[in-house]
Amino acid sequence: MLAALMFSMSASPAADAQADHSSIPTQALDVTGPTATLQALANAKPVTARHAMVVTAQHLATQVGVEILKRGGNAIDAAVAVGYALAVVHPCCGNIGGGGFMVIHLAGGKNIFLDFREKAPLKATPTMYQDAQGNVVPGRSTKSFLAIGVPGTVMGLNAALKKYGTMTLQQVMAPAIALAKDGYVLEPGDVKILDTRSKNFAEHPNVAAIFLNHGQPYQAGDRLAQPQLARTLELIAKGGTDAYYKGPIARAVVAASEQNGGLLTMKDFADYTVAWTRPVTCDYRGYEIVSSPPPSSGGTTVCEILQIIKPYPFAKWGYGSVMATHYLAEAERHAFADRNTDLGDPVFVKNPIRNLLSPRHAAAIRAQIKPDAATPSSEVKGSLGPDEGTHTTHYSVVDAKGNAVSVTYTINYLFGLGQIAGDTGFFLNNEMDDFTSKSGVPNSFGLVQGSINDVQPGKRPLSSMTPTIVLRKGKLFMVTGSPGGSTIISTTLESILNVVDFGMNMQQAVDAPRVHQQWLPDLVMVEPGYLTPTTQAALEKMGYTFKVIPAWGADEAILRDPKTHLLEGANDDRRTAGLAAGY
Ligand code: DON
Repeated sequence: MLAALMFSMSASPAADAQADHSSIPTQALDVTGPTATLQALANAKPVTARHAMVVTAQHLATQVGVEILKRGGNAIDAAVAVGYALAVVHPCCGNIGGGGFMVIHLAGGKNIFLDFREKAPLKATPTMYQDAQGNVVPGRSTKSFLAIGVPGTVMGLNAALKKYGTMTLQQVMAPAIALAKDGYVLEPGDVKILDTRSKNFAEHPNVAAIFLNHGQPYQAGDRLAQPQLARTLELIAKGGTDAYYKGPIARAVVAASEQNGGLLTMKDFADYTVAWTRPVTCDYRGYEIVSSPPPSSGGTTVCEILQIIKPYPFAKWGYGSVMATHYLAEAERHAFADRNTDLGDPVFVKNPIRNLLSPRHAAAIRAQIKPDAATPSSEVKGSLGPDEGTHTTHYSVVDAKGNAVSVTYTINYLFGLGQIAGDTGFFLNNEMDDFTSKSGVPNSFGLVQGSINDVQPGKRPLSSMTPTIVLRKGKLFMVTGSPGGSTIISTTLESILNVVDFGMNMQQAVDAPRVHQQWLPDLVMVEPGYLTPTTQAALEKMGYTFKVIPAWGADEAILRDPKTHLLEGANDDRRTAGLAAGY
């Protein structure tokens, strides 16, 4: 269902250079259900719970998290258990072959960021996706073994558990191992996702053996067991991080990489590190946003947009109004231009975050926004920048003590590279496509990337993943985030605006039709139902071009009602297999 639809980028002057490649597959938009109608939205109610809540894109993984919490585990224990469970029950996106980010808020007030993004192999070079003539070779950064970054998920989850968890690795991995070993019954939402790549599964016997049912696509009601993955998970549960990075699992991946022209070596795995850093933070109308710093572009861009729109009366204007749409789109246009020019892996480049989030910068941007007209993106200074690939998943956890964890992790495309090393049972990522293949040449998602994000050995590609926590007076208010490539940033941002400015409950805030502008292409993406004919006409008169996309993103969010202290959990209704549950 996702493969066929493409949307074209505009032919704005600045986009001309990329016009031939200017399309983003709708598979980048990552949904299994349609957008809510406004009627459904009016009635949408979150799941409520008094003590603790877990929201993920797959109901069995949610249940794993809730069980861990009920057994006395904290939010970090539950988040690690959910991370491993999603690798089994949400294999498109949950993973042990990719990487991601975790934002933690401890009940005592401390906020922490964990970066477990993949790194480029040590033999990687800036021109590795080009031929001898310097042309980018289609598919090399997405479909070949050169697409694989050194995975970070296992080290990330295990490091989080060790530092802030209370349970053993065996305890938190046991539910995932059982789900892989015994299998689980597929629901329509699970099958829809598997269907998107069943043709690719057939190309590789070791993939077909697991993800096809005697050569045929799985149907709802079938049981999917993954004995190979169960064995891999057991090795990790027993041997810890080293089993993955220094033992048989790394050896299997390196062997497959060598057989298929890849660059991975045992040293890549042995040298891999995760990074504990501080989240990027900003304030918005009395709320503190605690989000993901580089190598994510997400937190910085969300914060930059919020600083720009702060003085405008969004609550008065209302959700979907001409003015709120105009000022949001304009703020996004400028913030994405900055994102694409200025951000990269902080180990390799200097990120001017303080300047991007300064009141002076926000004021300078506001001065360029006309009250009654869209600014052509060609007039907004920036150098063309990166976009991201396709498939990812976000989940949120809050425990009874008030600790909260926000995680987004990915293997990039749905099912990543679509290949599995030997009998390891897990999909390898194609995250290297998030790098610049060649400065000035669009990547497979149609955007041209800047040299700040060039491939370098050991570097992490710039990401849009934006796991975020919102605080009010130092106390937990919201946990939010989404898949969806560059749209992750606006989806996460809008979940906050919908609550803070537009007074929605958590379920309404994640279900509400979305709007997205990312500088280039010079158009505004909207989901059905976002615009009324009157607002659309008024905005078109101001110079806006709209592209209606059936649906995108999957925001799995939690809100703590400051008055009742009840937790509101919301599984995005676009993700039909997902679940919010608590106690
Ligand atoms: O890290 C990134 O920004 C991308 N590789 C994430 C891809 C993604 O979110 C696709 N989801 N639908």
